[in-house]
Amino acid sequence: MPKVILHVDGTTVEQEVEENANLVVLAGIKEFPKLKFGCGMGKCTRCTCRVINGSEGLDPPNWKEQNILGEKLKEGYRLTCQLYIQQDIEISQENIKIKPPRKRGTIMTR
Ligand code: FES
Repeated sequence: MPKVILHVDGTTVEQEVEENANLVVLAGIKEFPKLKFGCGMGKCTRCTCRVINGSEGLDPPNWKEQNILGEKLKEGYRLTCQLYIQQDIEISQENIKIKPPRKRGTIMTR
């Protein structure tokens, strides 16, 4: 089973998870403590992490991550809700300042 190390709010969580586990799903059912998350759908950015070790075991960023994180992907940022853990990984949610893209309003005309 892959081991996950999470650094968040000055603490470190270490926990083994099932292969292909999604950490936001686990956090949602209180089986992965401390993880910050929100929508679970790649929109709110509250789950953003920076991968410290183990990025080679992740699938490439999907379109949601590319849309929201853009150039930040090169710095190791990922949306935790879009990741499926296949190997040991170390991630951090310390000092993450990623905001969701501004919603574009619909212009109503008559
Ligand atoms: S939980 Fe909202 S973007 Fe991941």
